[in-house]
Amino acid sequence: MPTRFAFVILLSCFAGNTFAQSKQIVIETSHSALVLNVGGNQRVVQSYLGKKLAPAAYPSGGREAYLTAGMDNQFEPAIRMVHNDGNPSLELKYVSHKTTRTDDVVQTDILMKDPVYPVEVTLHYTAYYNSDVIKSWAEILHREKKPAMLTEYASSLLHFNGDEYWLTQFHGDWAREVNIIEEKLTNGIKTLESKLGTRTNFYQTQAFFLSLNEKSTETTGELIAGTLAWTGNYRYTFEVDQRNGLRVRAGINSFASEYYAEPGQPFVTPAFIFTWTDQGKGQASRNLHNWARNYGVLDGNKERLTLLNNWEATHTTFDEKRLVELFDEGKKLGIDLFLLDDGWFGNNFPRNDDKAGLGDWQEDKKKLPSGLGYLVKEAANKGIKFGIWLEPEMVNPKSDLYQQHPDWILKLPNREENYGRNQLVLDLVNPQVQDFVFRIVDDMMTKNPGIAFIKWDCNRSMTNAYSPYLKEKQSHLYIEYTKGLYKVMERIRTKYPHLPIMLCAGGGGRTDYGALKYFTEFWPSDNTDGLERVYIQWGYSYFFPSNTISAHVTSMGKLQSLKFRTDVAMMGKMGYDIRVNNFTPQELLFSQEAVKTYKRISETVWFGNLYRIISPYEESRAVLMYVAEDKRKAILFNYQLQTRRKDIFSRVKLQGLDPQKKYRFREINLFPDTKAANPDNDKVLTGEYLMNIGLNLAPGRIAPLSSNVFELTEE
Ligand code: GLA
Repeated sequence: MPTRFAFVILLSCFAGNTFAQSKQIVIETSHSALVLNVGGNQRVVQSYLGKKLAPAAYPSGGREAYLTAGMDNQFEPAIRMVHNDGNPSLELKYVSHKTTRTDDVVQTDILMKDPVYPVEVTLHYTAYYNSDVIKSWAEILHREKKPAMLTEYASSLLHFNGDEYWLTQFHGDWAREVNIIEEKLTNGIKTLESKLGTRTNFYQTQAFFLSLNEKSTETTGELIAGTLAWTGNYRYTFEVDQRNGLRVRAGINSFASEYYAEPGQPFVTPAFIFTWTDQGKGQASRNLHNWARNYGVLDGNKERLTLLNNWEATHTTFDEKRLVELFDEGKKLGIDLFLLDDGWFGNNFPRNDDKAGLGDWQEDKKKLPSGLGYLVKEAANKGIKFGIWLEPEMVNPKSDLYQQHPDWILKLPNREENYGRNQLVLDLVNPQVQDFVFRIVDDMMTKNPGIAFIKWDCNRSMTNAYSPYLKEKQSHLYIEYTKGLYKVMERIRTKYPHLPIMLCAGGGGRTDYGALKYFTEFWPSDNTDGLERVYIQWGYSYFFPSNTISAHVTSMGKLQSLKFRTDVAMMGKMGYDIRVNNFTPQELLFSQEAVKTYKRISETVWFGNLYRIISPYEESRAVLMYVAEDKRKAILFNYQLQTRRKDIFSRVKLQGLDPQKKYRFREINLFPDTKAANPDNDKVLTGEYLMNIGLNLAPGRIAPLSSNVFELTEE
């Protein structure tokens, strides 16, 4: 029976929105299934997670799906609650479940209750059928007299029984984000987490692969890819028990965050998003990209703007005249939008460096006497759009805002202030502050409706954090801060549903799907050196689609040609941050053509399926390709990273093409006066040949740090 047909039949047993009494609860996507069962003791157990099978083949039994604390469980609990009487135990028994379907999304909600205390927990699972992604979260509700204390409140707990478990994590720091490490899990607990409060991905990207039984490759192996949709402190624990069973818990980090849940008010955890596959990491990424474009990212399946940013060209030193010149440079280049970065605001405390001005979001009258409106108009006159940088959650002590509202700032009342980049974090828990932050955007947009893009920055994490608003409830700070940010973003999105906004946090400090539902793209790193970016963009490509990964051509990376840096930017969401007037005539010509080429190929790059063919972590080169959904087009990127002659590279077998189709293989984005050197250039080759015999992408003597972009078009 075709899979799709089986799916429809299964659903019809549940008939939308009705409660079913079945003891087996099957959550399925097109290739995977998560199966829960209700045991004799009415507890809900996870019986299966893996390849989709016929319903009768799924096992029963298993380990408890949402482990509680204080009774028989001796492992890390998903939930721990201390009741009004001080009793720290919880038991969750099945009450009912419900399945609802809309298009390719199936929602399953399982209600459980404690037999002794008035506490209920609903486990929610959203199955995205076509992208093979499951989103899982929990809702905790009690009706005791006073607030009940939660000390654990996971979004999801998943169980595995494998021979071995291999965890791939992505750690880093400023300007060296997403470094890949893969290691075998041993008995005990491995934790990946953040306690940074804001820009919480600064040292650790909040996504992982977990390979089951053996290491997975790009094309083989069973694994899950997981990530928490939360823009705050997160934590994953991987606990391997005495019988080699693995429990993977994902959720908000409970560190310093006991939560006093009010009676009758549900505590809703953020969602854990994961995909299971037995086809390797490449398939896991394609599943997540597909889901992200359709459900996870704001306007994820829409086009993006190419832009010229002025940060590297001017830093905070500019005036109106210089900016208007830069509009001309942008126009000359052919980009869609000019992005004015930091340094345009502050009067009593002008923003001439990072020491002053944050919080005072009025145009600097000295630099911009005619105001933003003039710039928006001038840009429009030149035929380009105008965008602007904001860092709305922060304040410099040298600002009017700091003087006027000292109680709007996170800082300990009785200790010295502690700065990061000379700034403090605003108390976004406070509704007045939320209102202030909303109005920064709203006032600016109301006055200048032509503003077409925002870069939303966040350049420090929390230290010495204390919310004047929360008073004695300080343990709510980390959670309520993130909720406060979401409240602001909800308001912004209600009024400005499609305004493109880039998520930035001193580089890749914020890269999560909790935020990306409000943002169109993110800034992966302040490191824009082309060679470094091959690795950084490669790392992010595991979890995020290319139209979210901003990649700008800059003058960082002096050893690399402009061609190399441009080819690297082209694999993501391309932009520029460079002095165009310093280009040689040939460089200008090349870049103008590159922008045109990018506009032509970006549909395939943004919406095609990504195949990572040769990893820079394994060879001193990187090869990847995007294949259009209908397989009629593909774009192949080839980066030679070696600086010595010693490496001999084998032929490269392409992936994802149609073996029956014939493709013309042609190098594009060549630098003026250079010719394609590939022996197969301009030949027509079958998909079968390209995927089985492959191409020699390193013919002859390869120049260090050279690169090629190839286009494959069906003949
Ligand atoms: C951060 C960003 C940069 C730039 C500066 C401006 O570092 O990551 O791109 O916007 O702030 O201060």
